[in-house]
Amino acid sequence: VRTSELQTPALLVDVHDLEHNLATMAAALPGARLRPHVKAHKCTELARRQAAAGHRSFTCATIREMEGMAAAGLGEDLLLANEVLDARRLGAVVDSGARVTVAVDSAETVRAAAAGGVREVLVDVNVGLPPCGCAPADAGRIAGLARSHGLAVRGVMGYEGHLMLVADPAERARLTAECMALLARAAADVGGDVVSAGGTGTYAVNQVATEIQAGSYALMDTAYAATGLPFRPALTLLATVVSAAPPASEIQPPWVVADVGLKSLGMDHGNPTVPGATVWFCSDEHTTFAPDDSGSVRVGDRVRVLPAHVDPTVALHERIHLVDGDEVLETWPVDLRGW
Ligand SMILES: Cc1ncc(COP(=O)(O)O)c(C=O)c1O
Repeated sequence: VRTSELQTPALLVDVHDLEHNLATMAAALPGARLRPHVKAHKCTELARRQAAAGHRSFTCATIREMEGMAAAGLGEDLLLANEVLDARRLGAVVDSGARVTVAVDSAETVRAAAAGGVREVLVDVNVGLPPCGCAPADAGRIAGLARSHGLAVRGVMGYEGHLMLVADPAERARLTAECMALLARAAADVGGDVVSAGGTGTYAVNQVATEIQAGSYALMDTAYAATGLPFRPALTLLATVVSAAPPASEIQPPWVVADVGLKSLGMDHGNPTVPGATVWFCSDEHTTFAPDDSGSVRVGDRVRVLPAHVDPTVALHERIHLVDGDEVLETWPVDLRGW
């Protein structure tokens, strides 16, 4: 199958860029030093490639991701790096034979984990990002509470997500060290041997985490590409140009319209990028853009659009096509979607 035969919008992953990204990360953080976050791609076939690169413990954001990873035989060591108040489905994942650890940051989440049949937890510590996590000084108390409920406390997690896109690498490293000092103190109070933190933006500068939870590195997006990391943009959204402004018109600038928009692109990090063009705006099913070379793009042409944010983009699609140039090598279901 060629990409020209695919219906658009279609998510494409370049096999060479993907392999470069997986190999680069595996060299920097081999084996269990990386706990890949599957929320970035929501695809067990891609997780299988990460496992083949040596990483057999995974991070998830939803119960659905935990269930899907376990069902795919990738449940050796799954962390739900997120709070849940009803852990019964996680208990069922434990019963299926997978190793399940869940983040807790309150008495309520501790009680839910114990009641749901989860046996292992990490204390989630707020290191400066508003979503989730107890105060660092409260981590020891939460750990004690968890142990009193019969839960094994493996250690702490703390995600410095507000630092991932800090443009200056030295500043990113300095701020990460500040956040991780908070996490290290909490880890001393909590006990256990896991300090789980970090992401694609801080994987190389986080000196405290025993494991890094990076997810975006495998596919990348334009927001991350701007930070100078050694990972390549592997993910594009194949689009078809469905309309073009009349080329001879004096009152209309030469724009064209492709069939990808808000319903197929995560937009919270801004507009997508069309190489060789200026994107004007996206609407529900359209991206309107002006090619640098006016008249070079015609109705029916295919363009590869680069998303600004990988996670919410992938979550809008049912499948990913692994491609080598214009050849479709494999088609993978985005099977970890939903909740
Ligand atoms: C708790 C947690 N850990 C790790 C990550 C992975 O970050 P990235 O996709 O930047 O690698 C995220 C992403 O938001 C996250 O929420």
